[in-house]
Amino acid sequence: MVRRKKQLSTLFSIIILAMIISSLLGCSAQKKRVSHIENNGGIIVGFSQIGAESAWRTCNTRSVQEAASRRGVQLVYDNAEQKQENQIKALRSFIAYQVDVIVFVPIVTDGWDNVLQEARDAGIPVLVTDRKIDVEDQGLYAGFIGTDSPKEGRNAGLFVLDKFKESDKEQINIVELFGTEGSSVAIGRADGFREVLDEHPRYRIIYSKSGDFLRSRGYELAVEFLDLYDDIDVIYSHNDGMTLGVIEAMEERGLRPGKDIVFITIDAQQAAIDALIEGKVNCVIECNPKTGPEIIELAERLAAGESIPRLQYVHEEVFYETDDLSLIAPRGY
Ligand code: AHR
Repeated sequence: MVRRKKQLSTLFSIIILAMIISSLLGCSAQKKRVSHIENNGGIIVGFSQIGAESAWRTCNTRSVQEAASRRGVQLVYDNAEQKQENQIKALRSFIAYQVDVIVFVPIVTDGWDNVLQEARDAGIPVLVTDRKIDVEDQGLYAGFIGTDSPKEGRNAGLFVLDKFKESDKEQINIVELFGTEGSSVAIGRADGFREVLDEHPRYRIIYSKSGDFLRSRGYELAVEFLDLYDDIDVIYSHNDGMTLGVIEAMEERGLRPGKDIVFITIDAQQAAIDALIEGKVNCVIECNPKTGPEIIELAERLAAGESIPRLQYVHEEVFYETDDLSLIAPRGY
């Protein structure tokens, strides 16, 4: 009987101790949350970027960092170095740190359901930017802001149709440099392009491979497709980085990009605009990386408990070889 009493009192002490510890933890978590909000009105945003694969990406990161610092927002930044598992780890660390809002650029569309469920369970709103995701429950994230990639693809297709409208060639051979496999932007750029050209059977995509949005891969793929084909009419590149690699490979072979082969590229970094001015590229479709101010504004609204638009596309232009190119303002990256 005495032994049983002793056991019960030990159990009771353990329960009391557990309650004290958990209430202390709860207090400190509560305190931390309140301190975000009382700290000069500033909030803490966890920002998971996919890497630094292109000039576009570096500009995008800088834009978010500068906008955060202008608004007094504390940015917890993580560079995932092109790995989804690194991004998932970063998101989990933001949850453990109890940031006010999570912003992330998903490298690929799939595989986010579990970690976003964890964010939701922790009460942290999530903003998806630049690339889209596919999740079963749309309520797992608050909204998306970024580029309209199918529209970029359609614009590329429309340019090709226009460029060859007077040509009587029976078949127009197209090479496509695809972005990162499984990324929404590469899928959108490919789908939009096909949507326009599929109705016109003389346009044939004879080669399509992923260059991962990297200049070095663009160069390697060009070496391959220039060896395989000598009757390419069009090169459609999903980003400027790969385009610059292709231009280098073509020029090494004495080919004239933009003249021997029609060239369309996406992003509009300064080097691509320079190539357009020099006639090495025929059409540049803008993908706007300077989304920092809008991202931070949306994050602030989420932190304040407001709702935000589900889908927000940023302003983007198309630059054609026939435009007055002297009017293009310096791109800044
Ligand atoms: O997701 C946007 C794309 O990713 C840009 O077109 C490209 O340059 C970047 O690396």
